Amino acid sequence: MLTGLQPLTEQNMPFPTQTVREIALHQPTAIPIFEHLGIDYCCGGNTPIAEACAVAGLDLSAVLVALDFSAGLPALPAPDWQVASLELLCAHIIVKHHDFARRELPRLTELASSVLAHHGETHPELAAIHATLTQLDFHLSEHFAKEESVLFPYIVSLERSITDPGADPVSCFGFLPDPVAVLSCDHEHTGVLLHQLRELSHNFTPPLEACPTYRSFYEGLHSLVRDFYQNMHLENNILFPRAMRMESATAFATA
Ligand SMILES: [Fe+2]
Ligand SMILES: [Fe+2]
Repeated sequence: MLTGLQPLTEQNMPFPTQTVREIALHQPTAIPIFEHLGIDYCCGGNTPIAEACAVAGLDLSAVLVALDFSAGLPALPAPDWQVASLELLCAHIIVKHHDFARRELPRLTELASSVLAHHGETHPELAAIHATLTQLDFHLSEHFAKEESVLFPYIVSLERSITDPGADPVSCFGFLPDPVAVLSCDHEHTGVLLHQLRELSHNFTPPLEACPTYRSFYEGLHSLVRDFYQNMHLENNILFPRAMRMESATAFATA
């Protein structure tokens, strides 16, 4: 059985009872496969792969073969976020994912308005896509503010306090499990909105007669959704658990 943070090897391939989250954590090359198949590896990642396949109507053995194959592919070079500093991870999340969403959301909302104005009559789902995107923009601007002005600074100060015992972490919320529960709840709501965008756009597939703007809109939407799942994966599955373990160990050491 796969335990702890043991990496996957040829002898240690995914098996049906492993959760989607475990596979995504130990085998980053599985993430594009989950994205392609529409399997949630973030908020819904605690589901065994067999169950996730059954829910999605996918053939489990074919998915396991694809995952086995992807294990042999080189992963893109990136820091090992299981051991890199949390300060670096927070900065990476802001620069790579939050800033990307901040740039893309206004651009995509404008494209959505334009596509809706020209094709809304023949494609009524565009009105719902526009509304969902507007809701996502509003929800994420609040969510990013909570993370960037409250949670991440606390995590950075917590980590610094380990090497500099004179620098006590300052929290305005008590202990981490409380804000993490709130932010995880935000992520679940985000996951629902991303799922709606996927469903409404027929998995980001433009109609045959779609004009270049329509196609570019769906491509951009797909990139945004893909990127945000990676953001939530880094936070739900790595940053939050690591920070909470660090906080418990620090609180225990100073108790
Ligand atoms: Fe975030
Ligand atoms: Fe987040």
